[in-house]
Amino acid sequence: MSTDKVSVHGGWASRWVFVLAATGSAVGLGSIWKFPYMVGMYGGGAFVLVFLACIALIGLPVMLAETLIGRRARQSPANALKVLALEAGHSARWSWWAFAGMITALLILSFYSVVGGWSLDYIIDMGHGDFQGVTSDQVGAYFGKVVADPWRLTFWHTLFMVLSAVVIARGVVAGLERSLRIMMPLLFVMLLVLLGYSMTTGHFMQGVHFMFDFNSERLLEGLLPAMGHAFFSLSVGVGSIMIYGAYMPKGASLSGTVVGVALLDTFVSLVAGMALFPIVFAAGLSPSEGPGLMFVSLPFAFGNVAFGQLMGVVFFVLVAIAAWSSAISLLEPMVAYLVERTKVRRAWVTFWLAFSCWFVGLGTVFSFNIWQQAKFFVSEGGVFHLYRWGAISGLDFFGVIDFFTSRIMLPLGGLCFVVFAGWVMGREAVRDELSIRSPVMFALAFFLMRYIAPIGILVVFAAQLWK
Ligand code: TRP
Repeated sequence: MSTDKVSVHGGWASRWVFVLAATGSAVGLGSIWKFPYMVGMYGGGAFVLVFLACIALIGLPVMLAETLIGRRARQSPANALKVLALEAGHSARWSWWAFAGMITALLILSFYSVVGGWSLDYIIDMGHGDFQGVTSDQVGAYFGKVVADPWRLTFWHTLFMVLSAVVIARGVVAGLERSLRIMMPLLFVMLLVLLGYSMTTGHFMQGVHFMFDFNSERLLEGLLPAMGHAFFSLSVGVGSIMIYGAYMPKGASLSGTVVGVALLDTFVSLVAGMALFPIVFAAGLSPSEGPGLMFVSLPFAFGNVAFGQLMGVVFFVLVAIAAWSSAISLLEPMVAYLVERTKVRRAWVTFWLAFSCWFVGLGTVFSFNIWQQAKFFVSEGGVFHLYRWGAISGLDFFGVIDFFTSRIMLPLGGLCFVVFAGWVMGREAVRDELSIRSPVMFALAFFLMRYIAPIGILVVFAAQLWK
């Protein structure tokens, strides 16, 4: 049995560093920026409910599967699947799935970096006092002005990409721990402060109702987006968590750790939503604003409270750090793979990959300005049914990449990983890696991986196709 492989990329000093890194990966723009605007777009409570169900029944088993595959093989996702499949007497072609996942991660990074750049931009704007005493119209116009300027977006997108690449080039294991140990807890504290502020707006209960009252008519509409976002939020489906699992010490309890990370990530999403919506309502903004939601509601709040300027700077610094620690985990799987495959220097591999993502990211930059009118998938009526993948009327470049990655590739990647753990690796190998003491809990975890999660993913796809 080859259960004691060693990673060539180094390893975390302890389980806690894994927790820190995995939390750093999971908690990011997905929780703070994307979750609230998707809740707003897909009808509040209905979306939240489906999202939570997808986290528990699908996202969590996928996360367990990914981590255990990674830790057993101790290599980049594509090589991990190859080695373990061959060991179990299956085809090496399993690695193609993981390869597709690693490409997906790079596509996600291309737009992630642009939005990470917005948060860098807002640190400076906050510091200048641009938002002191603003009205809700002014914050909206401000965001409009920021994204209308391709040079400005490109500048911050470039800076964000460079900051992420620097850590990767030096090796994730060395770079992450020091930066995250203080920053992640601080981000939680700031979110709680923001939540406290929301409670004073007089619209807190309106926000809570918006997030938790659900309208059953809208359940189906948000099904696939919510499942896709569950994957996005937990960083699963592309091998991010798998590569972090590969650096995890042997013997550390995997299941408890993974469940803890997933809970923390979900908690941050819910707190971010509960903090944001009361502000949105108090300011008279629309919850279905779209990707700008966080960038208009928060500056409004910070612009109109005592010490808001300072708190705003701190907050956007923390958001940028959360985004940065997630971006790193998007780049790492492919970097690790190419380092294993080609023996080219890590720094060099990182440079070329980051450059490619940066280049594709320009498409997202332009989606908000010079290519604003360029819409894909538009039929004559303005609404195109992509094989009934929901009415997606006129997606821009960013919309296409987001749609393809979150709604199609992440669930497919997740499907591959749970099927691999549940059916290819077999019960004993999984038991050995998971190290769950209670036989009942193990049976439950294995059942989720083998049946519930794969069937769940297929059912959501089917519901989307035949609704
Ligand atoms: N989970 C991160 C966030 O919520 C983004 C992210 C990092 C990600 N790694 C990933 C998303 C892998 C999908 C797949 O901000």
